[in-house]
Amino acid sequence: MSGIRPTGFLHLGNYFGAIRNYLRMQEDFDCFFMVADLHSLTTHPDTRELKANVHRVLAENIACGLDPGKVALYCQSHVHETAELYLYLNMLAYKGELEKTTTFKDKVRLNPENVNAGLLTYPVLQTADIILHRAKYVPVGKDQEQHLEMARNFVNRFNHRYGEVFPEPQAFNYNQELVKVPSLDGTGKMSKSENQMATLYLADEDELIRKKVMKAKTDSGPVDPETPKPDYIENLFGLMRLVCAEDVVKKFETDYAQCSIRYGDMKKQLGEDMVQFISPIRQKAKDILDNEEYLKQVMEQGAEKANRSAAATMLLVREAMGLNYYH
Ligand code: TRP
Repeated sequence: MSGIRPTGFLHLGNYFGAIRNYLRMQEDFDCFFMVADLHSLTTHPDTRELKANVHRVLAENIACGLDPGKVALYCQSHVHETAELYLYLNMLAYKGELEKTTTFKDKVRLNPENVNAGLLTYPVLQTADIILHRAKYVPVGKDQEQHLEMARNFVNRFNHRYGEVFPEPQAFNYNQELVKVPSLDGTGKMSKSENQMATLYLADEDELIRKKVMKAKTDSGPVDPETPKPDYIENLFGLMRLVCAEDVVKKFETDYAQCSIRYGDMKKQLGEDMVQFISPIRQKAKDILDNEEYLKQVMEQGAEKANRSAAATMLLVREAMGLNYYH
């Protein structure tokens, strides 16, 4: 089970960091992927763009290969049991531990005039999302590790007080090291909010992709065969390894080692291979976005699967908690 924030445009970092994991998991497990629209209300109470953002994130994930036939792909707000479980879990969550959460403290610092209770209990809502399906594996990045640790605490408190209902959820990743996709300006990784010219979005047009890649920082190349690659050059090679054929990467590695590398040619090649990679996804996402009827079907189908699983869990929860007064 995992949640995807509906914050608009996905980029290459999202693809290689998260989505590629989802694609493999959908073959190996019974998966629930959820658009976290309720979570977004904790920081974005203005909902005018919510629908468009939800549609976009669904379309882009499907365009990447997430199959709504294989997984439950749904919106958080379509599963009302989430709110019920969230309420029960809130009684087991302490103010002190919630206030200590790193993401909470960051958000308070960034937005001191909107420190609402939903923001404080964000990790409780996230726990409800996960354990509503009694999920064990949660594909998330490092920034979510603390939330998962809190989820395990809430689960253990629940199980201890009311009986074993939930397994302990844990972060899941196929690779030991999470794949980091470097940004094109040689600093940090691709991100939604920072330098947009240094990030390749799955919605970028071909010409823009080429332009961004050509603008990436290079130099006049090594003169000494033993020269280690500067970060910004290593980053370009890193990007090539993601989208270029192996022999192509090897050719440029050899050129580098022999001090005959031409970065202009290398970036041209990288630009073309990026276009080959991104443009079918962009096209497919566009087609899906134009088809509201299809999106509606996807959401309905996802909600049905998620609701079935949630209903089964909530029967166990109410039973364990002694909230069944009819028998
Ligand atoms: N908090 C997650 C994020 O910021 C999104 C999320 C919401 C989530 N519910 C979840 C992730 C459940 C994993 C499981 O990215």
